[in-house]
Amino acid sequence: MTLSLLAEWLRCPTCFRDLRPFGDLILGCDNGHRFDVNRRGYVSLLPPRSRHRGDNADMLDARERFLEAGWYAPISDALAESGAEAVSDAEAAPRRPFSSCTPPQPVPRVLDMGCGTGYYLRAVLDRLRGVTAAHESASHGSATHQTAAHEPADGTAEARALPALGCDLSPAAVSRTIRVTGASGLVADVWHPLPLRTGAADVLLNVFAPRNADEFARVVRPGGALLSVVPTSSHLLQLRADGAMLDVPEGKAGQLEAHMKAFRLLSRTLVEFDMTLEASDVAALTGMGPSAHHRGSGATDLHAADSDASGQHADGSAASESDASGSTASKSNASGPGVGDHCRIVVTASVEVLRLQRMSA
Ligand SMILES: C[S@@+](CC[C@H](N)C(=O)[O-])C[C@H]1O[C@@H](n2cnc3c(N)ncnc32)[C@H](O)[C@@H]1O
Ligand SMILES: [Zn+2]
Repeated sequence: MTLSLLAEWLRCPTCFRDLRPFGDLILGCDNGHRFDVNRRGYVSLLPPRSRHRGDNADMLDARERFLEAGWYAPISDALAESGAEAVSDAEAAPRRPFSSCTPPQPVPRVLDMGCGTGYYLRAVLDRLRGVTAAHESASHGSATHQTAAHEPADGTAEARALPALGCDLSPAAVSRTIRVTGASGLVADVWHPLPLRTGAADVLLNVFAPRNADEFARVVRPGGALLSVVPTSSHLLQLRADGAMLDVPEGKAGQLEAHMKAFRLLSRTLVEFDMTLEASDVAALTGMGPSAHHRGSGATDLHAADSDASGQHADGSAASESDASGSTASKSNASGPGVGDHCRIVVTASVEVLRLQRMSA
C-alpha cells in the first residue's frame, strides 16, 4: 500500500474535499483536517458517534476457518466470474476510462464494502488480474505488454495488486483484508456518508454485508458494477429447521434490486450446493454469524443484528445479510445445533449473485 494509492479513493469525512498525503502517515484535505494512517496501512474515518458494531476477532477467526476450508468456494467462484463479466462489459464500451477520478487506465478499481476477512475480494482480484492481463495483451498485440503498469516489478502481492480498497466497520477485518489481498484499507460505517470520492469505484462488491443505496450509487461510476451476494430463503435451511435460527425472508434478491434504484439488474445467478459439515465446521459457521455478537442474550436481540422481516432498518436503509447461523445463545454452543462431536450434517448453501450496472444520471 502506498499513501497516494489509498488517498485516491478518499474524501474528507468532515468537509468532503479530496484527501491527499501529508507526510509519512497522514492524510489531509485543503481545509486543514488531518487523519493518521495506521502503520499497517489503513485509515479509520469513522464518524465520531458511530453506534454500529463490526465483527470482532472471534467472529473473524471463525469466518476465516470456515472460508479458508473452501466451503463457500462455489460462491467466490461465481462472484469472481461475475466480476470478470462486469469488466468485460466495461471494456466493451467505447474507450472510456474506468474511473472518473484518476487518469485513464485499463484496470478496474475494485471496492469491497463489508470486506470481512478479504476472502471474496482476493478471489475477485485474482480473477480480474487474468482478465486485465489478457486485455492488455490483446490490445497491444504482444504478450510482453502484460508487464506494463501493474505487473509486479518486485514480485510482491502488493505490486501485483489492482487498485483495490477493502472497507469495513471492523478495524480487525480491514487489517486482515489488506494482508491477504494487498489492497488499501478503510475503516468506515456504511450507514453514514462514506468518506469515498464520487465515482471512485468501477466494481463494488457487497457480500452478505449491509448496503447503503444512495452512497453506493454515488461511489460507483456510471456504467460501473455492483456485485452482491444475498441468501435465498433456502440458505442453511437444515440449521434453521429446529427453530434455532431466524428465517431468511423470501425474495431478498428482489428487494435488493428494487432498493438499488440507480442500478439496473444485468444478471442473477443462483448458486446452490450441499456441504457435509462436521461439528467443528458448524461451530465455525455459527461463530461467524450475527448471533456471535449476541452470546448471552436472546432471540429478540438477534432481530437487531440480522435483518427484520422487511429487510430494512428503521432508518429505511437495507439491512445486513447473514451468511451464517443466527442461532440463539442457548443453542450456539461449540458444536452447533443438533450436531454431536462425531456426527456430520448435510447443509445446503443457497445464494444469489447479482450483477447490477450503475445507470447514467
Ligand atoms: C456477514 S459479514 C460478511 C463479510 C464478508 N463480506 C464475507 O462475506 O466474508 C458482514 C461484514 O460487514 C461488516 N459491517 C457490519 N456493519 C457495518 C457497517 N455499518 N459498515 C461497514 N461494515 C459493516 C462486519 O464487520 C462484517 O465484516
Ligand atoms: Zn476536510
